[in-house]
Amino acid sequence: MNALLQFHHIGIACRNIERTRAFYLDMGYKASAVTDDPIQHVRVCFLDMEGAPRLELLEPMDEQSPVARTLDTVGVTPYHLCYEVDDMAMAITSLRRQRFLLVSGPVPACAIDGRHVAFLFKKDNGLIELVEAHH
Ligand code: NI
Repeated sequence: MNALLQFHHIGIACRNIERTRAFYLDMGYKASAVTDDPIQHVRVCFLDMEGAPRLELLEPMDEQSPVARTLDTVGVTPYHLCYEVDDMAMAITSLRRQRFLLVSGPVPACAIDGRHVAFLFKKDNGLIELVEAHH
């Protein structure tokens, strides 16, 4: 399993990327350009800093966005861990065997060069995103 999943980022739901980002920029993180993802109904910005895990800020574009529900119930919060996988189908099969439910995807993600992403959920572990290493 460890060989199958390479850590990629922590996803953080926020109401406003610019307001949330300011704190991380002060800490020394470097921000990517903000990208719209009309499939997931989110605006996306990646934050990187040497020695720290990559962060992904997600702001809902509208109330249809899954992120909007998270914000309504718990407010601004980390809400998914993303792992990079060489073989999306094999990784999904493996997580399903561990009783994760596939909640969305695989679909192309605009913010990461159209690479496919999928989201899986298990009550004991919460939400996990998979992103394919190559496409
Ligand atoms: Ni993500």
